Amino acid sequence: MKVRGAVRPPGDKSISHRALMLAALARGTSEITGLLTGEDVKSTARVLRQVGVRASAVRDGVVVRVEGRPLTAPRSPLHCGNSGTTARLMLGILAGQRFPATLTGDASLRRRPMRRVTEPLRAMGARIDDAHGDALPLTIRGGRLHALTYTSPVASAQVKSALLLAALTGKVAVNVREPYLSRDHTERLLLHLGLDLRYDDGAISFQPSAINVPSFRLSIPGDASSAAFLVAAAVLAEGGELRVENVGVNPTRTGFLVVLQRMGAHVERVNLRDEGGEPVADLIARPAPALRGTEVTAAEVPTLVDEVPILAALASRAAGETTFREVGELRVKESNRLELIAANLRAVGVDARALGNDLHVQGTTRPPRGQVETARDHRLAMAFAVLGTIPGADVRLSERASVSISYPRFFADLRKLGERGKGKA
Ligand code: S3P
Repeated sequence: MKVRGAVRPPGDKSISHRALMLAALARGTSEITGLLTGEDVKSTARVLRQVGVRASAVRDGVVVRVEGRPLTAPRSPLHCGNSGTTARLMLGILAGQRFPATLTGDASLRRRPMRRVTEPLRAMGARIDDAHGDALPLTIRGGRLHALTYTSPVASAQVKSALLLAALTGKVAVNVREPYLSRDHTERLLLHLGLDLRYDDGAISFQPSAINVPSFRLSIPGDASSAAFLVAAAVLAEGGELRVENVGVNPTRTGFLVVLQRMGAHVERVNLRDEGGEPVADLIARPAPALRGTEVTAAEVPTLVDEVPILAALASRAAGETTFREVGELRVKESNRLELIAANLRAVGVDARALGNDLHVQGTTRPPRGQVETARDHRLAMAFAVLGTIPGADVRLSERASVSISYPRFFADLRKLGERGKGKA
């Protein structure tokens, strides 16, 4: 495949969730452009409507208007679909409300750990039933909260954000520390809205004032995690150059580009700008015919946690071994990604294995051929679809529909990159 032209990834999933939630908590009407129209963000919008928020439909190319107002008790369980971010951040928001609410989700979400959020929320005073050992469905009764100083055992933006949102709705202070810095979109948005958040000796200290969250206008940058699949397709291409436009390049999200550089693929950032407190750029990606294996460290993992599937796919085309250290968290993502990355790479002829919490991938020059089980995990489907673009490949996916979670137009965009480049460059 040869690549050429420009492509725009969809809106950032993490920022889309946060923008909707903070707009719901604001006084007045907020206007958001560039929201992701993937299923996860629709889950957040639906759940917010169930607690009384007025939000216009989340559709491509439209400005979404959200009217913040005091939240009200839902009449039925809040179904978070496949979205861990919706469930965990909503638990934070609900912790500060005076009504009970039950959260549930699809089979994948009901298997995911919630204790990392429920435990500190209980310490703040929220009452949460634990009938299912802290997995969904969960009923939370919020109310009068107290201040919390908390050191999270996991570097998780969802945990950190749930506590910041509980502080905001419960009007109490929190101080949160994490082992490594995870994505900081919540902090940036709170700061952008003028709230009193500080960095205090490596911890985040948030003191919600009596002032309400102001309504806002926000343009959401393209998702760096979705862009990663496009960049990877260009890196694996036989020729040409691809411009990936309007990508969020927040340093807590761009570990993928840092690792790519070490592997021998330099991605240029041009047209750097700021959008609502988030750095944004266009990326210029070119084929890198001589990728080399590398070691991804534990400290880097939070900055590329959703990019491990596509980095592992690239590692399978690099000379030598690539090791991902301390990626045990991947076992509790939308699927058991750690085991499925390794098993699927083996299924297409690559020597890959999970040893303890590390993932090892041996590069090969043989074309990947075989059947891949995505387990309906969007990032596995996209990573292996990209691997399937290399000459001689025959990668068959068990399904493709899961891409609607984070990148509904993924297959159309992937096809376009190749078509545009055909016979050119
Ligand atoms: C997210 C945080 C990450 C990431 C997920 C989105 C967020 O999860 O994997 O896709 O928006 O806060 P963790 O917080 O569990 O690491």
